[in-house]
Amino acid sequence: MQTRSHRKSELWDINPDHYDNGVPVFKPTMDQFKDFYRFNKSINKYGLEAGIVRVIPPQEWKESLSSCYTEENLSKVVIKNPIVQQINSNNHGVFQIQNMERARKYTLEQWQELSKKQEPPRRRKRSHDDNDENATGKVDATEFNSERCEELERSYWKSLTYSEPIYGADSEGSLFTDDVNVWNVAKLPNVLDLMEERIPGVNNAYLYAGVWKATFAWHLEDQDLYSINYIHFGAPKQWYSIPQAQHEKFFNLMKELFTDEYKNCPQFLRHKTFHASPQYLEKKGITVNHTIHREGEFILTYPYGYHAGFNYGFNLAESVNFALDSWFDIAKKTDSCHCIPDAVNINVDQLWKRYNSVKKNSVVFV
Ligand code: NI
Repeated sequence: MQTRSHRKSELWDINPDHYDNGVPVFKPTMDQFKDFYRFNKSINKYGLEAGIVRVIPPQEWKESLSSCYTEENLSKVVIKNPIVQQINSNNHGVFQIQNMERARKYTLEQWQELSKKQEPPRRRKRSHDDNDENATGKVDATEFNSERCEELERSYWKSLTYSEPIYGADSEGSLFTDDVNVWNVAKLPNVLDLMEERIPGVNNAYLYAGVWKATFAWHLEDQDLYSINYIHFGAPKQWYSIPQAQHEKFFNLMKELFTDEYKNCPQFLRHKTFHASPQYLEKKGITVNHTIHREGEFILTYPYGYHAGFNYGFNLAESVNFALDSWFDIAKKTDSCHCIPDAVNINVDQLWKRYNSVKKNSVVFV
C-alpha cells in the first residue's frame, strides 16, 4: 500500500466520455473505477455543474456480480409497504403527487406479476417467439430502445394523471453480496461511513422496485448530500436534472407555483411531491438535462442538483446517499425540513471531528 503523503490530493484528469442531453456520461477504466472516492472527487466539478452524471461501469466489474443474482439472493428481496401515487394537476404540466402507503409485502416475483398489470399498451407488433416467461432477475430490457423510450416518455407526460402507479420505494436492503468490494452501494468508502448511527437510505442502502410510471418528483437529497443509484436489472429509468447555475431560478418558480406549500414549509421540495414537466420548465426558461439510465449503469446526483424522473417498467434499483469531504462546507448552509417528523438530521459537527481524526491515520480519503 502506498503511503498517504504520496497519494494525498492527487486527483485524476478524467473527462466525460460524452454528454447525453446535458448529462455527462463517464466510462471509467477498471483502475479509475476501483477507487470510488478518488474517482468521485475527480469528476465532481462535472456533476455539480449538470446536477447528475451517468457512469457506465467497466465490463470486468459487471462480470464480478454473478453472486448477487443467484436465486437464493433474489429470494431475500422483500418490497415492503410500497406507495400508491395519486397524481393531480390543475395547471398544464404541473403536478402534485400524493403517496399513500399500501401496508403489505411483496416478493420480487409478486412484484413482477403486479408490474405486468401496469404495463403500457404495446404499439409495435411482437414476434411469435416473444417470451414473457423470463425468470425473475433475467428480465429482458431490450424492448426499451431509444425510439420506444421516446414514445413512452411522451405518453407518460400526457397520461400521468390517468393512473395510480405503485412504487416499491425505500425498502431497506441490498442485492450486493459482501464479496463485491468495488462500488458496492451498501458499503461505499465515503464520509458518511464514519457516522455512528445507520440511517436507512442515507448511509444504509435502499432497494427501489419500479413499475411503469412509478415517479420520483423534483427534489434535492436530505442535507444536500450526494446520491448514487444502480439499476440491478429491468427497465430503464428516465432522469431529469436542473443545472446548478439555475437551481435558484428553478426553486423560485416552484415557490410561485406552490405558494401555500412554501409558506407551510420553506423546504417543501424535500417532500418529493411536487412535479413539473420538462416542457413546462423549458417554457419558463429553465434548462432541463435528461438521460436514460439503463440496467447495469449508475446515476450520481449532486448537491444543489434538483432531479426527478420515472421508471419505464419493472426494475430493481439500489440507492444510498454519500458525501465527499467538500460536502462539509455545503452541510453548514443546508436548511432541512422540520415539518416531516422523520426528516434526516446528521450531526455534522461530530462527523467533521471524526473525519479529521480518521484522515490523519488513513489513506481512504485523498
Ligand atoms: Ni434523489
